[in-house]
Amino acid sequence: PSTFFRQLTLSECDERPPRRRLIKISVIGAGNVGMAIAQTILTQDLADEIVLVDAVADKVRGEMLDLQHAAAFLPRVNIVSGTDIASLTRSSDLVIVTAGARQIPGETRLNLLQRNVSLFRRIVPAAAEASPESLLLIVSNPVDVLTYVAWKLSGFPASRVIGSGTNLDSSRFRFLLAEHLEVSAQDVQAYMVGEHGDSSVALWSSISVAGMPVLAHLQRNHRSSAAAAKAFDAAALEGIRRAVVGSAYEVIKLKGYTSWAIGYSVASIAWSLLRDQRRIHPVSVLAKGLVRGVPADRELFLSLPARLGRAGVIGVAAELELTEEEEKRLRVSADTLWGYCHALGL
Ligand code: 2OP
Repeated sequence: PSTFFRQLTLSECDERPPRRRLIKISVIGAGNVGMAIAQTILTQDLADEIVLVDAVADKVRGEMLDLQHAAAFLPRVNIVSGTDIASLTRSSDLVIVTAGARQIPGETRLNLLQRNVSLFRRIVPAAAEASPESLLLIVSNPVDVLTYVAWKLSGFPASRVIGSGTNLDSSRFRFLLAEHLEVSAQDVQAYMVGEHGDSSVALWSSISVAGMPVLAHLQRNHRSSAAAAKAFDAAALEGIRRAVVGSAYEVIKLKGYTSWAIGYSVASIAWSLLRDQRRIHPVSVLAKGLVRGVPADRELFLSLPARLGRAGVIGVAAELELTEEEEKRLRVSADTLWGYCHALGL
């Protein structure tokens, strides 16, 4: 310890262990996504310690130093880094996994599966053993299948294994709706559920703003005034859904990867979990028996609106109001994901 200050004696200052348990978050994978998550979490004043782990020693040390150099502008956080999961991540409260191959332009998320499953076999058991009480938040793609893989490989209860899922798709959805309605995206209640990927499902019937159901209102408007400039007809709805699904592809084509939005999305999930907020996030959860058409013996993860708290997933919205079309699409999403999970034979 530094001698710059004279340490007060016990009778002068009784520095007991902190009343609050310090919060330790480990981020495995220090690529663009891992670093966007780490930097967003830093700005939130959520963690007391952030651990960055990556297979490339120089890269992760460089990232650590770069973040440490922001110390004068941030709350005090201990930032450490290295390549060894077992020693560095010990006793984490939350382990976030972003490591893995990422899509090249035009490639689907599901294309990445085999490469990333092999990686998970090395990462997940080590992380689970180092932090047996931790929450595990999976971000690597294809996120729904890899969350299932992480659940199997960790041996954790499903309530402590969460995929970042369609929390991001839902933000993209709310952004586009908000632009259309000229309100803040924070005031748009709207969910994308199912696969984080090509088969994700937009829940049109439950969109609301200021407690008013948006779809019924806009459809009524559309009928009564053919000239309504902002009519929400079927084509406009489908256009928005396609735009949401195409968002990641567009960003990847333009800048090579996505990072900032997933950073905010994951940081918001981390906040709800570790601060026990009981907020609802559409995230990837064990869906067996929770979705009509997904029987209790089908083990698969997909996104549903879930209530998040310190214990992980503490509730799942199982009574979704779905139209026939939405239910059909969700079942297709579930069938696709189950096919992939089942084929892994874990
Ligand atoms: C995203 O949706 C690629 O899954 C990543 O931004």
